[in-house]
Amino acid sequence: MKLLQEKIRQNGKVLSESILKVDSFLNHQVDPQLMKAIGDEFYNRFRQDGITKVLTLESSGIAPAMMTALNFGVPFVFARKRKSLTLVDNLFTAEVYSFTKQETNTIAISKEYINREDKVLIIDDFLANGEAAFGLLELVKQAGAEAKGIGIVIEKAFQSGGKQLREQSIRVESLARISSLQNGRVEFLEEVNYEQTAI
Ligand code: G4P
Repeated sequence: MKLLQEKIRQNGKVLSESILKVDSFLNHQVDPQLMKAIGDEFYNRFRQDGITKVLTLESSGIAPAMMTALNFGVPFVFARKRKSLTLVDNLFTAEVYSFTKQETNTIAISKEYINREDKVLIIDDFLANGEAAFGLLELVKQAGAEAKGIGIVIEKAFQSGGKQLREQSIRVESLARISSLQNGRVEFLEEVNYEQTAI
């Protein structure tokens, strides 16, 4: 996705060989125009799949998930990572280990909002080792719903998550796939041909 690659090139900061900082448009300050384009692109890629619900994980998945759900005309649900005063029982839960933060979070959604009739599109901001994605897939499984695929804004293709998911025949659509962050430079796996691509 041309717009996203440009934004990453212009505003992303390579913090190390494995971490890209995108606080200016995705993880802290959020660019609504870009989120709209991201929502449109996910809709185009999954429009044939009869999606009835979008599922994400708080907090940075919320903006792209909402714009995607708006296009589908369906609700989106964000799994919680922190304990909530009101969300205490009747939950589906999964454990998600973060290699980046070296901590385990229990993620949870209410049983009320995903059920066995649902065809779920999972959306997240980053795909690294796939822990969050596998946790969200586990929630969908517990609900007896069908996971139609995973939409990722930025995939770090040099980490193992995308490969593991695709090896299990899970459809993963990533809007930007980074092959390397070495030498302070962002390299994309599929460099967009700027002259031919409209989005
Ligand atoms: P994984 O789920 O694919 O295994 O990823 P990992 O545990 O490594 O990621 C944990 C958190 O770090 C996630 O955010 C993820 O989005 C974020 N993250 C991973 N790699 C990068 C990166 O290169 N740059 C940035 N900016 N974030 C990265 P989170 O803790 O859920 O944060 P938030 O959603 O509350 O913002």
